[in-house]
Amino acid sequence: MSVPVNNRRLFVVGTAAEIPPGERKIVDIEGRSVGVFNVNGEYFAVRNTCPHAGGPLCQGVLSGMVVSKEPGEYEYVRRGEFIRCPWHQWEFDVRTGQSWLDPKKTRVRRYDVQVETGAELLSDDAELVGAGLQKGPYVAETYLVTRDGEYVVVSL
Ligand code: FES
Repeated sequence: MSVPVNNRRLFVVGTAAEIPPGERKIVDIEGRSVGVFNVNGEYFAVRNTCPHAGGPLCQGVLSGMVVSKEPGEYEYVRRGEFIRCPWHQWEFDVRTGQSWLDPKKTRVRRYDVQVETGAELLSDDAELVGAGLQKGPYVAETYLVTRDGEYVVVSL
Protein backbone atom coordinates (compact mmCIF):
# COMPACT_ATOMS: atom_id res chain seq x y z
CA MET A 1 0.00 0.00 0.00
CA SER A 2 1.44 3.41 -0.91
CA VAL A 3 0.03 6.80 -0.01
CA PRO A 4 1.47 10.10 -1.33
CA VAL A 5 1.92 12.68 1.46
CA ASN A 6 3.83 15.96 0.95
CA ASN A 7 5.71 14.67 -2.13
CA ARG A 8 6.69 11.51 -0.24
CA ARG A 9 5.20 8.09 -0.68
CA LEU A 10 4.45 5.89 2.30
CA PHE A 11 4.69 2.10 2.05
CA VAL A 12 3.27 -0.33 4.58
CA VAL A 13 5.95 -3.00 4.98
CA GLY A 14 4.29 -5.15 7.60
CA THR A 15 2.63 -5.22 10.96
CA ALA A 16 4.58 -4.07 14.01
CA ALA A 17 4.20 -7.60 15.42
CA GLU A 18 6.04 -9.03 12.39
CA ILE A 19 9.22 -7.13 13.30
CA PRO A 20 9.75 -7.55 17.06
CA PRO A 21 12.68 -5.89 18.90
CA GLY A 22 16.04 -7.15 17.64
CA GLU A 23 14.53 -8.41 14.37
CA ARG A 24 14.50 -7.13 10.80
CA LYS A 25 12.47 -7.54 7.67
CA ILE A 26 13.91 -7.11 4.19
CA VAL A 27 11.35 -5.88 1.68
CA ASP A 28 11.23 -4.75 -1.91
CA ILE A 29 9.93 -1.21 -2.34
CA GLU A 30 9.62 -0.08 -5.94
CA GLY A 31 12.63 -2.13 -7.00
CA ARG A 32 14.76 -1.17 -4.00
CA SER A 33 15.68 -3.80 -1.44
CA VAL A 34 15.29 -2.21 2.00
CA GLY A 35 15.99 -3.59 5.47
CA VAL A 36 13.62 -2.45 8.24
CA PHE A 37 14.98 -2.93 11.77
CA ASN A 38 13.35 -2.83 15.18
CA VAL A 39 15.92 -1.60 17.71
CA ASN A 40 14.35 -1.76 21.17
CA GLY A 41 10.98 -0.62 19.85
CA GLU A 42 12.31 2.04 17.46
CA TYR A 43 12.18 1.34 13.74
CA PHE A 44 14.87 2.21 11.17
CA ALA A 45 15.30 1.41 7.50
CA VAL A 46 18.41 1.32 5.29
CA ARG A 47 19.07 0.25 1.73
CA ASN A 48 20.03 -3.40 1.45
CA THR A 49 22.96 -2.59 -0.84
CA CYS A 50 26.35 -2.00 0.73
CA PRO A 51 28.08 1.12 -0.65
CA HIS A 52 31.44 -0.68 -0.58
CA ALA A 53 30.84 -3.34 -3.25
CA GLY A 54 27.09 -3.87 -3.35
CA GLY A 55 26.81 -6.67 -0.78
CA PRO A 56 23.47 -7.59 0.86
CA LEU A 57 24.14 -5.34 3.85
CA CYS A 58 20.91 -5.98 5.74
CA GLN A 59 21.55 -9.74 5.89
CA GLY A 60 24.54 -9.07 8.14
CA VAL A 61 25.00 -9.37 11.90
CA LEU A 62 23.67 -6.67 14.21
CA SER A 63 26.01 -5.65 17.00
CA GLY A 64 26.90 -2.89 19.43
CA MET A 65 30.14 -1.12 20.15
CA VAL A 66 32.75 -1.51 22.89
CA VAL A 67 34.01 1.72 24.44
CA SER A 68 36.69 2.20 27.07
CA LYS A 69 37.71 5.14 29.23
CA GLU A 70 40.80 3.44 30.62
CA PRO A 71 42.64 0.14 30.40
CA GLY A 72 40.75 -2.70 32.04
CA GLU A 73 37.41 -0.93 31.87
CA TYR A 74 35.07 -1.35 28.98
CA GLU A 75 31.43 -1.05 28.21
CA TYR A 76 29.27 -2.55 25.47
CA VAL A 77 26.99 0.20 24.22
CA ARG A 78 24.26 0.68 21.59
CA ARG A 79 23.59 -3.05 21.33
CA GLY A 80 21.94 -4.02 18.04
CA GLU A 81 22.36 -0.60 16.37
CA PHE A 82 25.15 -1.46 13.92
CA ILE A 83 24.73 -3.66 10.87
CA ARG A 84 27.84 -5.47 9.65
CA CYS A 85 27.95 -6.29 5.94
CA PRO A 86 28.34 -10.04 5.39
CA TRP A 87 30.77 -9.56 2.50
CA HIS A 88 33.70 -7.54 3.95
CA GLN A 89 32.43 -6.60 7.43
CA TRP A 90 32.01 -2.85 6.98
CA GLU A 91 29.71 -1.51 9.69
CA PHE A 92 26.92 1.04 9.44
CA ASP A 93 24.77 2.74 12.04
CA VAL A 94 21.18 1.71 11.30
CA ARG A 95 19.91 4.96 12.88
CA THR A 96 21.77 7.21 10.43
CA GLY A 97 23.26 5.05 7.67
CA GLN A 98 26.69 6.41 8.60
CA SER A 99 29.77 4.24 8.20
CA TRP A 100 32.05 3.79 11.19
CA LEU A 101 34.86 2.60 8.94
CA ASP A 102 34.89 5.57 6.57
CA PRO A 103 32.52 8.10 8.19
CA LYS A 104 33.38 11.15 6.06
CA LYS A 105 32.84 9.57 2.65
CA THR A 106 30.67 6.49 2.99
CA ARG A 107 27.11 6.09 4.06
CA VAL A 108 24.19 3.88 3.19
CA ARG A 109 20.84 5.38 2.23
CA ARG A 110 18.41 5.49 5.13
CA TYR A 111 14.66 5.99 5.07
CA ASP A 112 12.22 7.40 7.58
CA VAL A 113 10.05 4.82 9.31
CA GLN A 114 6.96 5.35 11.39
CA VAL A 115 4.34 3.20 13.04
CA GLU A 116 0.75 3.99 12.14
CA THR A 117 -2.46 2.43 13.36
CA GLY A 118 -4.81 0.87 10.86
CA ALA A 119 -7.32 3.64 11.56
CA GLU A 120 -4.73 6.33 10.71
CA LEU A 121 -3.79 4.63 7.44
CA LEU A 122 -7.38 4.17 6.39
CA SER A 123 -8.28 7.75 7.17
CA ASP A 124 -5.32 9.02 5.06
CA ASP A 125 -6.55 6.93 2.15
CA ALA A 126 -10.12 8.08 2.46
CA GLU A 127 -8.97 11.71 2.47
CA LEU A 128 -7.00 11.26 -0.77
CA VAL A 129 -9.73 9.35 -2.56
CA GLY A 130 -12.23 11.97 -1.43
CA ALA A 131 -9.97 14.65 -2.96
CA GLY A 132 -10.28 12.92 -6.35
CA LEU A 133 -6.90 11.10 -6.41
CA GLN A 134 -6.48 7.56 -7.69
CA LYS A 135 -3.99 4.97 -6.54
CA GLY A 136 -1.23 4.02 -8.95
CA PRO A 137 0.03 0.49 -9.62
CA TYR A 138 1.75 -1.17 -6.67
CA VAL A 139 5.16 -2.86 -6.74
CA ALA A 140 5.77 -3.31 -3.00
CA GLU A 141 4.31 -6.16 -0.96
CA THR A 142 0.82 -5.28 0.13
CA TYR A 143 -1.05 -6.03 3.34
CA LEU A 144 -4.64 -6.01 4.28
CA VAL A 145 -4.99 -3.06 6.65
CA THR A 146 -7.73 -3.09 9.22
CA ARG A 147 -8.61 -0.45 11.76
CA ASP A 148 -6.99 -2.62 14.42
CA GLY A 149 -3.27 -3.12 14.93
CA GLU A 150 -0.14 -1.12 14.18
CA TYR A 151 1.74 -1.04 10.88
CA VAL A 152 5.34 -0.20 10.03
CA VAL A 153 5.47 2.43 7.30
CA VAL A 154 8.55 3.45 5.28
CA SER A 155 8.59 6.75 3.41
CA LEU A 156 10.49 7.35 0.17
S1 FES B 1 30.32 -5.16 0.03
FE1 FES B 1 29.83 -4.65 2.04
S2 FES B 1 31.71 -4.49 3.03
FE2 FES B 1 32.20 -4.96 1.02
